[in-house]
Amino acid sequence: MVGIRALKKIWLDGQLVDWNAAQVHVLTHGLHYGYAVFEGIRCHRTSHGSAIFRLDEHLDRFVNSAKVYRMALPFGAPALKEACIDLVRANETPEAYLRPIAFSGYGEMGLDPTQSTVQVAVAMWEWGAYLGAAGVQHGVRATVSSWVRMDSRSLPPQAKCSANYANSALAKMEAVSGGYDEAILLNAAGMVAEGPGENIFRVKKGVVSTPPASSGILRGVTRDSVIRFVADEHLVFQRTDFTREELFSADELFYTGTAAGITPIREVDGRPIGNGDYPITRRLQERYEDAIHGRSERYSSWLTYVDEVHAARP
Ligand SMILES: Cc1ncc(COP(=O)(O)O)c(C=O)c1O
Repeated sequence: MVGIRALKKIWLDGQLVDWNAAQVHVLTHGLHYGYAVFEGIRCHRTSHGSAIFRLDEHLDRFVNSAKVYRMALPFGAPALKEACIDLVRANETPEAYLRPIAFSGYGEMGLDPTQSTVQVAVAMWEWGAYLGAAGVQHGVRATVSSWVRMDSRSLPPQAKCSANYANSALAKMEAVSGGYDEAILLNAAGMVAEGPGENIFRVKKGVVSTPPASSGILRGVTRDSVIRFVADEHLVFQRTDFTREELFSADELFYTGTAAGITPIREVDGRPIGNGDYPITRRLQERYEDAIHGRSERYSSWLTYVDEVHAARP
């Protein structure tokens, strides 16, 4: 079992504490009922030091997730932004994954979380591409899950709540135990929704499409970036539902996510996708790599520089 490597600090309830001191009680309410909201953000090495990618958008989603769950965050987006910047600086680790999480804390049990205090933490660790560097390069093998993505009448998928990830874990475990790398979840209407921790895109005859928010997905920040790249590449784009069969008939398919980056799907349930080349996916991957590493002026407003000298750059 490969564990994550401990860094120096974790931000917990307003303070940077030593990595090993960031502990909670076993009766932490959120641990029992999945009542927590979180984010996944990355910082990357650039020629001006570490830069956090689309921090404002991630924190905006975090605040909105908390709102859906009537969770009174004791820290607003500006304080959390400072927390993320301070944390990356304190850990002196320019390339990492950041995990802000708010959860109902220790003190009360029972199902009404509004009786519990809300705790907030931001941790970070070094994390390579979620579906592997080889997956980013050569594509991954996916399977359509027998588990259905929960919909907004049960657990609203647009709020990034920890409880949603029990559904993701069922799909992921099924995929891995079946010898696949990742799952594709359909929604209750039988249309393609997303991966357990990624959005999905399809390319057919030069047209790039992705399921709309109404298909029951998390509105991914990477998805949003890719939609911008598609426009900048002057490609035709459609936000549209597609069926399981349309996965098989695609020229290209790929996952997007902060953890996974842009990862091509080379096979779905034993059917090879396209002819094994990913010409459009490659163009989008290139734009993404340039954007996150600060090599593209066009996307420079998406970066928050951590190094004080560059933090004030326009
Ligand atoms: C279920 C789900 N869908 C999609 C995504 C992709 O979102 P993003 O690009 O903001 O990381 C994630 C990751 O956060 C996710 O957990």
